[in-house]
Order: sequence, then C-alpha cells, then structure tokens
Amino acid sequence: MFPERVLSGMRPTGALHLGHYHGVLKNWVRLQSEYPCLFFVADWHALTTHYDDPSIIESSTHEMVIDWLAAGLDPAQATIFVQSQVIEHAELFLLLAMSAPLGWLERVPTYKEQIEKLKEKDLSTYGFLGYPLLQAADILIYRAEHVPVGEDQVPHLEMTREIARRFNYLYGREKGFEEKAQEAVKKLGSKMAKQYLELRNRFQEQGEEEAIEQAHALLDESKNLTHVDRERLFGYLEGSRKIILVEPQALLTKDSRMPGLDGQKMSKSYGNTIAMREDADSITKKIRTMPTDPARVRKTDAGDPEKCPVWAFHQIYSDAPTCAWVQDSCKNAKIGCLECKQPVIESVLREQQPLLERAQTYVDDPTLVRSIIADGSDKARKMAQETMRDVREVMGLG
Ligand code: TRP
Ligand code: SF4
Repeated sequence: MFPERVLSGMRPTGALHLGHYHGVLKNWVRLQSEYPCLFFVADWHALTTHYDDPSIIESSTHEMVIDWLAAGLDPAQATIFVQSQVIEHAELFLLLAMSAPLGWLERVPTYKEQIEKLKEKDLSTYGFLGYPLLQAADILIYRAEHVPVGEDQVPHLEMTREIARRFNYLYGREKGFEEKAQEAVKKLGSKMAKQYLELRNRFQEQGEEEAIEQAHALLDESKNLTHVDRERLFGYLEGSRKIILVEPQALLTKDSRMPGLDGQKMSKSYGNTIAMREDADSITKKIRTMPTDPARVRKTDAGDPEKCPVWAFHQIYSDAPTCAWVQDSCKNAKIGCLECKQPVIESVLREQQPLLERAQTYVDDPTLVRSIIADGSDKARKMAQETMRDVREVMGLG
C-alpha cells in the first residue's frame, strides 16, 4: 500500500557519544541503503521535559545533525529533518488527541517512571502526558512500518499501534464499504482478484498471518488501484474498515553494550562518556586515567581483565591476538596498565578519523547543515501532507 518506510527520531541532547555511535547510528547508516528512511530531531519532545530551558535546543540540534552526518548518514539516501519544521506532526497530534483515552497515556510505563526519576522537574504537565501520543503522530504521519528503537521504547510503539487501530476503527467506516471493496477487487484483474480473495479467506477463516502478508505484497504489486481503493482492500482483508493509518513495528536495536569509562553503560547521566568528536588529547587523557582492576596496585601485581573496564573496551576494539596478549600479560603481571591501554587509545582514535573528516565540511560551513535540514524537512512535509489529506477527509475536515 505504502512504501516500506523506516523512521526514527532522537531528542536533541547535545554532542553524541560512542554509545550512540555503536548503539544507534551505525544501525541507521546500514538501514539507509536498505529502505526509504526518515530520521529526525525530536525537538518538541525535548521541550516536554525541558520547557523551562529551551536555550540549548537549537545548538544541540545543529551539533547532533553533524554527528549523524559524521557517522555516515547520507542526505542523498535518507531524509534528515527536524520535527518542528514539519508542523503537520502537531496537527495529527491534535487530531489523535480527540480520541486518545487518558488511561492509555497514564499507563505508559515511562510516564510515572520519568516523573519519579526527574523529581527536580515539574512534569505533571499536559505536554509530558502527551509525549507518547506525539511520538505516535511522528510515526503514523509517515505510515512508517519499521521503527528502529531500543527496548525502552517498545511500550510507545505498542501504544502507537493501538492508536492507529482505534483511528481506523473510528474513521475507516464508509457507507457501502462492502460494495466499494468488491468493485476494487475487480480492478485487480481476474487473476490477482482470485488470489486476493483466496488469501482473504485464509486469513478470515484460519487466521493465517502469512496470508495477510502475502495479500499485502500482492496489493503492493498491483498497478491499477487508486489510493483510496488500496486503503479499502487493505481494510477488507481484515474486516469492514479502510486502513488509513498503518500499524508500525519496533525494529529492536540490540543492546550494543558500549561500556563507559567506569565500566557502567556509557551514558551522559553517569559522566562516563567519550564524545564522538572529542579531541584526541582529551580522549587520550580519559582512557589513561580509566580505573583498572583494583588488585593491580603495582606492575608486579597480577590482575583479572574481567574486573577491569579497559578489558571491555578491548573486546570492542581489539583483534584476537591483542585480546590474548591482554589476558596473558594482565594475569601474569607482564605489563603495566598504561601499556595495556595504549592499543585502545589508538583504536578509538583510528575509528574516529573518518568521522572527523566527514564532520569537518559541516563544521567549516554551518549553512550546509541548515540546508540539509531545510531540504529534508521539505521532503518530509510532502509525505506528511499526503497522510494529512486522508486524515482530514475522514474526520470531516476535508
Ligand atoms: N522517544 C524517543 C526517544 O526518547 C524519541 C522519539 C520521538 C522517537 N519520536 C519518535 C523515536 C518517533 C522513534 C520514532 O528515544
Ligand atoms: Fe585492566 Fe589491562 Fe590493567 Fe589488566 S592490564 S587491569 S586488563 S588495564
């Protein structure tokens, strides 16, 4: 029905670190060559928690997009944009709000958790309650099928599907739907029509999910259908409603387990990060002062890599011979910890080199970043407007 779009967003939180690079961005870069992708800066979402301190949003957005480009996101392949530049998201958010049950929003686990966690902030606001609904609008407005996110976002995706289902249920009703759907079936041509009806039966009688998938593929192939007939036939497979908004699936990003400098997960709130574009001296210093196995007070004390955060870095950055060398030299007290850290320092700096080179162009010329965002936002807006045309029509706002 619609191209198999991938969409994801990130709140602008300032310079990204190696955890973002290994955990999120490398995945986005891979996806951009496999699917039509949209990646956006969720600046309105940042305001739901930082409404009292908007000063950093603009610069964080700019720096974050440079980090994305440094990681290898390519504006010629993926659509890179800023949420607030596509105001249609706000319109869909408003329209979804009409029928979104309060209980669904209050039940989202992040809601109460975050209020507890960010005690110093007053988050008993209308905007913060609406956070997952705004996220649903972000996703549904592009009819995105795949949403690469971490485990913590799964409840938001579940709610997004419920919102889409409820919307289709409320507004996909149509007078004479059955007849119109049957007319549309004929337009498939006799061979495809027969296949379609068989698949529909298989789903309705046996509940075979696979039949639905095959029918979707079949509809994707057919060239003779108008947009609205396609919506009808998607809906007719499952019931008696048009499908206006598409239910998305989370594309779970497996935990990259990028360790921080202290062995905990790398995270800004733990203050244990290395920024993607941090300067070489600072990286060197941070790694040289990393804690190691406390048993190794002197070079002659044997150690255990399992008790050392440096070893976690070796596992990400070092080849097998280097890892074997670490194991042996640490356990048998053959080297000092500084010597052990040296290959890690070199690898982190080597990995960073191409990122810095790609970023340089944008650091030198900030207008380039602005125009990438402006172009991406124009492209995204066009897609969003297509959905909004259908949404307005079925909500009596045509
Ligand atoms: N809530 C997401 C996060 O904190 C960010 C986000 C906003 C998002 N809108 C989205 C992610 C839409 C995926 C799709 O990471
Ligand atoms: Fe850690 Fe390496 Fe020192 Fe062993 S030798 S404690 S692995 S830094």
